[in-house]
Amino acid sequence: MKKADIGLIGLAVMGENLVMNMESKGFTVAVYNRTADKVKNFVEGRAAGKNIIGTYSLEELADNLAKPRKVMLMVKAGQAVDNIIEQVIPFLEEGDIIIDGGNSHFPDTIRRSEYVESKGLLYVGTGVSGGEEGALKGPSMMPGGSPAAWEYVKPIFQGICAKVEDGSPCCDWVGEGGAGHFVKMVHNGIEYGDMQLICEAYQLMRDYLGMSADEMHEIFAEWNKAELDSYLIEITRDILSFKDEDGSPIVDKILDTAGQKGTGKWTGIAALDEGVPLTLIGEAVFARCLSAIKDERVAASKVLTGPTPKFEGDKKAFIDDIRNALFAAKIVSYAQGYTLMRAAAKTYGWNLNYGGIALMWRGGCIIRSVFLGKIKDAFDKNPELTNLLLDPYFKEIIDKAQAGWRRVCAAAMTNGIPVPAMSTALSYYDGYRCEKLPANLLQAQRDYFGAHTYERLDKERGEFFHTNWTGHGGSTSASTYTA
Ligand code: 2AM
Repeated sequence: MKKADIGLIGLAVMGENLVMNMESKGFTVAVYNRTADKVKNFVEGRAAGKNIIGTYSLEELADNLAKPRKVMLMVKAGQAVDNIIEQVIPFLEEGDIIIDGGNSHFPDTIRRSEYVESKGLLYVGTGVSGGEEGALKGPSMMPGGSPAAWEYVKPIFQGICAKVEDGSPCCDWVGEGGAGHFVKMVHNGIEYGDMQLICEAYQLMRDYLGMSADEMHEIFAEWNKAELDSYLIEITRDILSFKDEDGSPIVDKILDTAGQKGTGKWTGIAALDEGVPLTLIGEAVFARCLSAIKDERVAASKVLTGPTPKFEGDKKAFIDDIRNALFAAKIVSYAQGYTLMRAAAKTYGWNLNYGGIALMWRGGCIIRSVFLGKIKDAFDKNPELTNLLLDPYFKEIIDKAQAGWRRVCAAAMTNGIPVPAMSTALSYYDGYRCEKLPANLLQAQRDYFGAHTYERLDKERGEFFHTNWTGHGGSTSASTYTA
């Protein structure tokens, strides 16, 4: 029998769907699952009559693979991945490739990649986005790890992934070590931000403009036809028109407490570790946390006061302002996300392909949008772009959008409507373009209480000064003693 092009371990929904996708693109796949029944059910069911080989031990799986062997893990993130790696290594030979397609945290992928390479094998940690349907019909794939593995997995990955209109695959080599899973994590963080921005637009329309779900459905339908055209705007449009059995909008009946699985939190932690102001995604994570304490909020709503939202003016014009606020803040969010990736690339020694990352996100995944094509253009034009806000195309959009964006944030503040993501994006924008921030005072404070020293505007950078602020305590600075 023909040896399989790839082996896949872990026949949960994502795993099964990836196998079906690979097979439909002409690849032969050998499959294995810890619980043998799943292999049996799969090969006798969905996989019957297809080029899919069921195996019942890791040795049998390895025996059925063409060399260099490619073994893809679609198992639960965490210890299970380490266990399987340990169990499968004895059946592999030099140059064989282990691929982790699960939602692994990038530090684990960095560690595993080094470990597997130390055994003479190659390792790939790949982000797979697009959910169950994406896995079956074409996910966005973000592979990183041992560069030597790419030529072997490329035909399969680029064969099964999503494609944009011109046929370009939404999968390319991301970078070394944990780069693939890092980029997937940032994708998820950006997803948190995009969703929060949409929710803020929704709350403004609902609570400030007093619009119904049907009216908002029309607005999102309109927005989806222009620069905001994206999967998340599209599903929001559809959600808003979806009726419950009694004919009323189902969205109005859903409890307002958000869940989370942790990838947004990981992104925020990575940003704090890198010292990158990833403020919008941070606020999006915290907004979910605030939503989760429903009982506390209900109690507080009876005690704490604030203005009653009251809209006066041109509703249509204000809806357009909301659109501008959403778009401008979204640009800030992606600018921040890219800054994080740039910082991590430096820390971990990855050569990230920034335009390629935008193309990978352009289709197949949750944040897919027309807008990502413009980000790709920006990095194609200038791969060294420090901040997306400085790209001429995005600069012009923000120039045009900012008056509306400011009106929305101001009205939200005055009327007591929370817009954490839209407003933090605006503060970041104003901070980023501010030549002189108040950190001179902050440095003075640090020097006052901790003798941390400061640099001076009228002296060379790198020269540090200390002032004896109180007249006692001498001129000792913190660099000469540890308090
Ligand atoms: P199972 O069917 O035997 O539970 C998603 O949970 C997938 O990961 C399933 O295919 C599951 O196999 C697999 N999985 C979870 N933990 C595992 C482990 N410790 N070892 C092997 N496979 C595991």
